[in-house]
Amino acid sequence: MIPFGDIKREVTELESELNDAIEEVLSSGWFVLGRKLEEFEAAFSAYLGGVHAVGVGSGTEAIHLALMASGVENGDYVITVPNTAVPTISAISVAGAQPLLVDIDERSFTMDPSMLREFVSKEKPKLGDKLKAIVPVHLYGQSADMDLILEVAKEFDLTVIEDACQAHGAEYKGKKVGTLGRFAAFSFYPSKNLGCYGDGGMVVAQNPEDAENLKMLRNYGQKRRYYHDIKGVNSRLDEMQAAILLVKLKYLDDWNRRRSEISQLYDRMITNPAVTKPVVMDYGVHVHHLYAIRHPDRDALIEHLAKNGVGSLIHYPVPIHMQAAYKDLGVPQGTYPVAEAAASEILSLPMFPQLTNEEIEIVCTHINSFQG
Ligand SMILES: Cc1ncc(COP(=O)(O)O)c(C=O)c1O
Repeated sequence: MIPFGDIKREVTELESELNDAIEEVLSSGWFVLGRKLEEFEAAFSAYLGGVHAVGVGSGTEAIHLALMASGVENGDYVITVPNTAVPTISAISVAGAQPLLVDIDERSFTMDPSMLREFVSKEKPKLGDKLKAIVPVHLYGQSADMDLILEVAKEFDLTVIEDACQAHGAEYKGKKVGTLGRFAAFSFYPSKNLGCYGDGGMVVAQNPEDAENLKMLRNYGQKRRYYHDIKGVNSRLDEMQAAILLVKLKYLDDWNRRRSEISQLYDRMITNPAVTKPVVMDYGVHVHHLYAIRHPDRDALIEHLAKNGVGSLIHYPVPIHMQAAYKDLGVPQGTYPVAEAAASEILSLPMFPQLTNEEIEIVCTHINSFQG
């Protein structure tokens, strides 16, 4: 069996360091909003190059809190893409806003900036101040084409919140993703490039006032205990997860390098002519959270791989506007042809730093032998 992912291998590698970190938290007797979180926020902020980092309960909550801090309210509109993980949309809905979708670029699988410009030019005069924000998604570990997105946002006075939940360490034109918009959201779900062992997330802000506001929003709107200046929620990265993330952050760049190596091995060893391999855009550094190929007979390929003991997953099989839960968006099938075509053909192969070269070779052998 070659699993799609295997976090146990990482836990085994780091076992003694992790046990020490967990033991330290247990013996401190302090579990929420403590020293470990402060340490991790400082370390993550330094890793990104000096933005303000605020630890929260999940990546979904990071997006939600960034929307709240942007002033998004009931009845507002927020633009994102149809091929994202549903949590991007959940966060927008929970903030009371309606998601509006813009199709993706066929090569990068991220928001198409020229379609964004066209869309905003058409919608802004109708929606006015209710159109509040853009959430570009750095999908599979690769940045969206941010210059053009930021340009549209500036021109039409929209807040940019980067969904960097799949892109820890990725870069765009020499800058780390997460430092480009007014806000950014990271997820530490266990399988992410930097993951904890439960749920966790980080919202990142460019300016200190936004960060102060976020710290209140994540903690019931209080700065001083039991004195609530604004309405907030409970969404905090706990001490245990912060301690685990502090151990793991040191390894992130090495792990990302290994992901890049694995991706290059797949690129070289997959020779099946019916397979389209992922494109690495020349504007940035891709951190290969996922390696997603395309094949016209994708479902049969999954079956073939499964029969041969190779795990795979689809990210994501159903675009947002075609999900049962989001029928009320009233967007018919056919509206986003690039995202829809991709959803029917994509397939993510095993991708995690501890995957061995031998396992990669076996995966490629089975892909190459598929005659669909
Ligand atoms: C693109 C994207 N956005 C948002 C999220 C939400 O993160 P979380 O699972 O930590 O809530 C995820 C991860 O699941 C994601 O991949």
